Amino acid sequence: MTRRRLSVDGQPVEVDAALGESLLSVLRSAGRTAPKLACGRGECGACTVQIDGRPVMSCAILAATVTGDVVTAESVARTSPDLGEAFADNIAFQCGFCTPGQIVRADALLRDNPCPSRAEVAQGMIGNVCRCTGYVQIVDAVCDVARQREAAPQ
Ligand code: FES
Ligand code: FES
Repeated sequence: MTRRRLSVDGQPVEVDAALGESLLSVLRSAGRTAPKLACGRGECGACTVQIDGRPVMSCAILAATVTGDVVTAESVARTSPDLGEAFADNIAFQCGFCTPGQIVRADALLRDNPCPSRAEVAQGMIGNVCRCTGYVQIVDAVCDVARQREAAPQ
């Protein structure tokens, strides 16, 4: 075992980053269970977290190589509660398994592009698979948040 200290959701987290162990695996072993294991090979987005603000598939990253700040959906739920509210309002989930990853990606998307077109939202969310919703409601939710933030007094 290789002891590593990662920054996860603003807190130092000691992990055993064994050679070859993924970031997703060490996060979940450390009790950070918002990122989900689905495909396990970087294809579905259920495990999405941010590293230094960029969305990444944590199942496809070696934990031993991570040096930046890791943010999971647990942190995004605190810093951007409007995203979760919009997903609920738009019924943008059913089983909910993909939702933490969707919200982490949407958070990064809206930081990079606060006023995206609907097509830009659809394109930006394309790496995150959902077997339940058909995606329309997910795009609706992200567009709603963009509109609400734009309309909010500064
Ligand atoms: S579980 Fe990581 S991309 Fe599917
Ligand atoms: S809500 Fe079930 S996979 Fe997306």
